[in-house]
Amino acid sequence: MNSIQNRRRSQLPAWWAGACLVAAATVVGAQDAPKVPDAQQLLDPQWIQEGRGKFIQTCGYCHGPEGDSGKHRPFRERVDWDPAAIHSVIANGRRRGANVMPAWKDALSDDEIWRITAYIRSLSGQVKPTP
Ligand code: HEC
Repeated sequence: MNSIQNRRRSQLPAWWAGACLVAAATVVGAQDAPKVPDAQQLLDPQWIQEGRGKFIQTCGYCHGPEGDSGKHRPFRERVDWDPAAIHSVIANGRRRGANVMPAWKDALSDDEIWRITAYIRSLSGQVKPTP
């Protein structure tokens, strides 16, 4: 084995560790700022349907099946509701005095949260359900 091959070999682990760090940082970054699905996706009747089932099952005992009970404005009265903001409240929760909205990011996948977001938007004034 000549000296160049020898050097390459000994450098490989350092290079490899660096690449792994970059890959790990990319994954963590993606979790911090979840990618917003495109507008059409959030109108997908199947997403809305799946989100509805999950919402009634998981969130209904506080919010009611259509988000009009609970200690906040009914979802249907909201207009111009930013999907990323909805996702963030669901994922991270929120507290206002004694009103506690639990965080769900450990219990629900990002996909599930986006489907629930699609359902919530379908209730809100801005978005009409697709015919
Ligand atoms: C233990 C009761 C409880 C459960 C369960 C719950 N929430 Fe909430 N949620 C609240 C409360 C209380 C608030 C109002 C928090 C505040 O006043 O800031 C809230 C606020 C919200 C808001 C923001 C409303 C607004 O007007 O900005 C959204 C969206 C929401 N919840 C979605 C969900 C979803 C989706 C689930 C199920 C995955 C869920 N919640 C489960 C109690 C709950």
